[in-house]
Amino acid sequence: MNTELAVIKGDINSDANDRITDKASYLIKNGCLVAFPTETVYGLGADATNSESAKKIYAAKGRPSDNPLIIHISKASDAEKYAYTNELYYKLTDAFSPGPLTIILPKKDTVPCEVTGGLDTVAIRIPSNEIARAIIEKSGVAIAAPSANTSGRPSPTSADHVIEDLYGKVDMIIDGGDCEIGLESTVVKISDDEINLLRPGAVDVQMLSSVCANVKMSDAVLNKLENSEKAESPGMRYRHYAPDIPVYLVSGEEKNVEAFLKRRLHDDNTVGILCYDTSKDILFGENVKYLEHSHIKQANVLFGYLRDFNKSTAKSVYSVIPDTDGVGLAVLNRLIRAAGFNVINAERFTVIGLTGQSGSGKGAVCELFKKCGIPSVDTDAVYHELLENCFEMRQEIVDRFDDDIVENGKINRKILAKKVFTSNDRTQLECLNKITHKYILKKTKELLLQYEIDGFKCAIIDAPQLFESGFDAECDVTLAVISELEKQIQRIMLRDDLTEKQALERLSNQHTTDYFRKKCTYCIENNGTLEDLENTVECYAKIFKGE
Ligand code: TXA
Ligand code: MG
Repeated sequence: MNTELAVIKGDINSDANDRITDKASYLIKNGCLVAFPTETVYGLGADATNSESAKKIYAAKGRPSDNPLIIHISKASDAEKYAYTNELYYKLTDAFSPGPLTIILPKKDTVPCEVTGGLDTVAIRIPSNEIARAIIEKSGVAIAAPSANTSGRPSPTSADHVIEDLYGKVDMIIDGGDCEIGLESTVVKISDDEINLLRPGAVDVQMLSSVCANVKMSDAVLNKLENSEKAESPGMRYRHYAPDIPVYLVSGEEKNVEAFLKRRLHDDNTVGILCYDTSKDILFGENVKYLEHSHIKQANVLFGYLRDFNKSTAKSVYSVIPDTDGVGLAVLNRLIRAAGFNVINAERFTVIGLTGQSGSGKGAVCELFKKCGIPSVDTDAVYHELLENCFEMRQEIVDRFDDDIVENGKINRKILAKKVFTSNDRTQLECLNKITHKYILKKTKELLLQYEIDGFKCAIIDAPQLFESGFDAECDVTLAVISELEKQIQRIMLRDDLTEKQALERLSNQHTTDYFRKKCTYCIENNGTLEDLENTVECYAKIFKGE
């Protein structure tokens, strides 16, 4: 379909703008689809009294046909043509119309059932945007207009968003600049003396309460409906407002949430973060977006941000949870749907960096922590797994250290180690580390996240090179395991089948025990029996778990 684009700027009554709104209303009267701005979001408009036009809306958006449309009129009394009004309707329209409020009333036969998704009620809204108003007035009919997005995607708050979703599927798109509010209207169902809030918006609960003492909030505003539950508003059933990538909301105290988000963030920009602008010094990067604490400002930017994430390199998004005062309820209602109700609790997840020399007993300490409910990520094992399975990392290593490290399509670790360790030149090792550490860190963070999602209160990063790798920056505390030299040598000889000389040589390449003592928050001295070690670990486990 050929889509006509038109821009409205300046005085709505100018000749040029008049011609555009004339054309738009002409198209609507003749059964066509026109996208236009409103103060909330862009709407996809068609004649609300024409069932064929309504069908076209559903087809263009890919919207389920049982999800009813809002009809837009220009003054409160026009509702009489389409619905059975009551006193409360006029009280509400006196207080908030024109503006971002939609009121559901019993419908009259003038509204075809295609528009109301088969329901015997109809949703009515009187927008304040002057472009919307001009088109409604010139059309002389109510205009059915859902948000002008592909069903399921974030609602459009600029003409570019509409073009992204609907270009070629509608007859005309009018660009009237960015929408003032950025979230869809408040939807209420009313009886003579009661308001039932179905979708929160810029007309908030406090404002509604100033008109009617009896304001109820539908369960579906913040909770997921079970399949068997009836939706008071069919739109609440569908996954909504969502980019194509998973979104997670992170609950908890602001500083815990910030620490959690910091742990998620990665230099390769595969993680998107939506946080408060007060975290700017701690959380930054290409896919970090900031919300102000003002709910109105949050509403302005939310949908644009969700669309931006979709176009970015982010493969998942983590977001703070706004509080629910005023318009905050509407912001959270959209965000929680974008997240498919996935909420992660960021309370008190402690990351422990565990390090120490070879043979100090780190492995045994990890096993004992595991018994106490503290799992670990073994960064050596992660490295070996990546060498096997991570094509990108392998390629980078081969590019740097030549093809002769490859045997039967795989990197031979021994040959690689020889190249890196036998030369006296540490730059080879540094070079290898520079490549591998970023992959290891990314994988480690993914594994930690899984532990967190699984409900653990803390987890260990087991890393001999905790500080050189920079993994310590991910940790809340660091813990060194320290042991007497003879015991270490015995353990290394036994475990790795080495001579005493070889074991000593290995240790001479590592940091001294003093270094670890100075660097780490805590030290475990592992010179006694296994039982002694078990007791020590149990004590630390209690501290870390906050018991
Ligand atoms: O701000 C807005 O309301 C925008 C602009 C364009 O006006 N429109 C909008 O429409 O958001 P839409 O279709 O995206 O959302 C309408 C919501 C849906 O959740 C729908 O289920 C609900 O209103 N709704 C419509 N008629 C209803 C009815 N008779 N009973 C219950 N819910 C209804
Ligand atoms: Mg919508």
